[in-house]
Amino acid sequence: MRLFQTLFFLSFIVTVGCKTEVAESTDAQTATVYAEPIHSYAEPNKAVVNHLDLDVAVNFEEKVIEGSATYDISVRKGVEKIVFDTRNLEIKGVMVDGVSTEDFWLGPEKPWMGIPLEIKVSDTTKSVTIEYATTDGADALQWLNADQTADKTAPFLFTQSQAILARTWLPCQDSPGIRYTYDAKVLVPSGMLALMSASNPTEVDSSGIYTFKMEQPIPSYLMALAVGNLNYKSVGEVAGVYAEPSVLESAAYEFEDMQKMVDVASEMYGEYAWGKYDVLVLPPSFPFGGMENPRLTFATPTILAGDKSLTALVAHELAHSWSGNLVTNSTWNDFWLNEGFTVYFELRIMEEVFGKEYADMLAILSWQDLQHELESMSDQPEDTKLKLELTDRDPDDGMTSIAYDKGYYFLRTLEENVGREKFDEFLKGHFQSNTFSTISTERFLENLKADLLNGSEEKYAELKIKQWVYEPGIPSNVVKVESPLFAQVEEQLSKFIETNDVNAIDTANWTTHQWLHFLRNMPTEVNIEQMQALDSKFGFTNTGNSEIAAVWFVMAIENGYEPANQAIEEFLIRVGRRKFLAPIYGAMVKADPTLERPRAIYEKARANYHSVSTNTLDAMLEI
Ligand code: BES
Ligand code: ZN
Repeated sequence: MRLFQTLFFLSFIVTVGCKTEVAESTDAQTATVYAEPIHSYAEPNKAVVNHLDLDVAVNFEEKVIEGSATYDISVRKGVEKIVFDTRNLEIKGVMVDGVSTEDFWLGPEKPWMGIPLEIKVSDTTKSVTIEYATTDGADALQWLNADQTADKTAPFLFTQSQAILARTWLPCQDSPGIRYTYDAKVLVPSGMLALMSASNPTEVDSSGIYTFKMEQPIPSYLMALAVGNLNYKSVGEVAGVYAEPSVLESAAYEFEDMQKMVDVASEMYGEYAWGKYDVLVLPPSFPFGGMENPRLTFATPTILAGDKSLTALVAHELAHSWSGNLVTNSTWNDFWLNEGFTVYFELRIMEEVFGKEYADMLAILSWQDLQHELESMSDQPEDTKLKLELTDRDPDDGMTSIAYDKGYYFLRTLEENVGREKFDEFLKGHFQSNTFSTISTERFLENLKADLLNGSEEKYAELKIKQWVYEPGIPSNVVKVESPLFAQVEEQLSKFIETNDVNAIDTANWTTHQWLHFLRNMPTEVNIEQMQALDSKFGFTNTGNSEIAAVWFVMAIENGYEPANQAIEEFLIRVGRRKFLAPIYGAMVKADPTLERPRAIYEKARANYHSVSTNTLDAMLEI
């Protein structure tokens, strides 16, 4: 007995020491050690889920998803309960190994976290079933009326689970460190198409019953469902597009390069692990640009610019198929491992497909975003570290562009120091050895030192790795990116400032990114005559390009340029993408401290926004 205990203890240490977050097997011998969740009540080192069978009906009249979640589970020796996350869910009943039980408890509610659901099990229990229904408090869900969609023929539902909203539409162990496979059966009103982050139908089934399979283990934040009047069009061997009928052709055109992106990405960092790669174009209220739901990226229609100029977003979400979905941050404190890697990878994909000059423009825009974010976060320098401390905080607080842009510059700085070939080899190894697993910042840094720097402490110090990850701000060894295409813009911008004449500047063949650079670098004060001249020459107020519009609208508000007011209001009512809303409302708040104008618009627009956006804007507008 003693010997056994000692051996067990030793093997435990060995496991902790070398395989910390390898989540493959759960039998006692190869005991997986999970990272301790920080935004989940789950205790995966005691009892953990392996597979989900979801059986739900989507009721548009009641705006409710109702049904059951059955999990196959593994319970460690001597453990007597399994804990799930729920938030604003109605729990209707529980079964253990198919038998109804009253032995379950709902704990006290905590902000963001919700309510723990504890179910009594034993170490021989194979499955638990939770019967449930969603409520009005399901923050992951957005139920749209037909008139909030493009075609206005049918209502629409979509989910947004990242970071910790999955628990508002299904009971789950809602930590990025816990993975499971799933099967789902979803009943929807006849004539509608249902899609998930899984194998998907391409046509409506008149029964309204759809079945799904996700054979690769995924964390709960990648659970996704969308239901609407949707059609499908293939754009390549594994790539395709889902959209409302009136949007489908333009989306298929915009995303024509998707298959090429999949091919170059697989070439760089290893085989694409998920079978298909489709993009679903959502109604404009989608709160993000994109969400990397496996096999089915969710995307905002605001990237349909008509000229493919905003498709870096697709490269970004596709890149998450490796960084994030295959190798996942173990907690939201390590969010930069998901997003920083993904921006780096996104730009590498863009470089392969559109060339280095193109990718370097994106890199400089990322640098500008970073400077802007650092400025706006000057009162919270702790959150400008790559490794975050989000315990007892809403993880959304940590989801700033630091993870993206500082993360990107860290990795690019490493690349330029060790050389691309060596860096790629390291990254390929990183994706291979952590496949379908999770990784913490600490583990990544250990691997980095060992595999990329051959164990060299000096090199590690010289590259200021600790400073990059654990200190606020940007270390001095950051690489500087130059762009000849932006240099042209700067020249013309100086000419405009000197001559004050819009006709004196040469903007022939400028791309979206050059225009963005032009507008972002305008002096902070531009007088009304100049605004007017710029607008009549270049048509910014009525541009169909959402990125350009968003920058211009902020400028218009800051400079009191009223001819843009109507377009601004229309944009804010139509579009729900937080990245655009926050700066535009922000500029209005600054311009009008009575909040009268932003509140009047918000009142009309709010019903069209997802909770992700209203949470931010309610606070900003003190609603
Ligand atoms: N995974 C993120 C979106 C996200 C982050 C949702 C944190 C919830 C919490 C997605 O991959 C993303 O980064 N989207 C960006 C686009 C990208 C091109 C920078 C967005 O939505 O703006
Ligand atoms: Zn991302």
